[in-house]
Amino acid sequence: MLKVGVLISGRGSNLKALIDAAAQPGFPAEIACVISNKASAEGLKYAEEAQVPAHVINHKAFAEREDFDRAINAVLQAHGVQLICLAGFMRLHTPWFVNEWHDRLVNIHPTLLPAFPGLHVHEAVIKSGTRFSGATVFFVRNGTDDGPIINQAVLPVLADDTPDTLAARILRLEHQIYPQAVRLIAEGRVNIHEDKCFIADHVASDAFIVNPPLS
Ligand code: GAR
Repeated sequence: MLKVGVLISGRGSNLKALIDAAAQPGFPAEIACVISNKASAEGLKYAEEAQVPAHVINHKAFAEREDFDRAINAVLQAHGVQLICLAGFMRLHTPWFVNEWHDRLVNIHPTLLPAFPGLHVHEAVIKSGTRFSGATVFFVRNGTDDGPIINQAVLPVLADDTPDTLAARILRLEHQIYPQAVRLIAEGRVNIHEDKCFIADHVASDAFIVNPPLS
């Protein structure tokens, strides 16, 4: 069983998706601990419900960002964590931390990276007029929302979408692909070569969607 540590700052719906997936028989990973930088994070309740050890490490208690990261690292090490999942964790890690967890630190982002990194992404997607958006799970590197892509899901942007409706539909995709990414990693099927991910033993899809639909 791969031991996973999940880092959150707020709602924690992706944490819940990971906890629920890990509770399924045969899932090859377990949630070893949850860390929040905010005591008020709603997602902490999911850890409590599932009896997963949860820790609050307040970033404001540290003068230096790297000291905060070292405190997080110590808790992860104490739980024997092998893979970190960032799930709405709203602090940027230091290069020291990113390097320490190279290829063992993943994040999820609610667009089709490398398009639309950063914040306020659904507003930007709608404003751009692009016909598709989606979600991406990737290995963290030092740039913002930048790193080898593990998996993605896509959906059409609808003519009457608002940032909120688009965010809600994409969140449902996130809850599917984050557990899938963890499963693939835990099964040893994600190989990184020249900073690009290759997934072993999967059936290629030639499906496509058109938006607006053809007929
Ligand atoms: C998710 O939509 C996630 O993709 C996003 O924060 C939200 C957290 O929701 N992350 C980023 O934008 C990272 N750049 P959650 O707390 O309910 O999981």
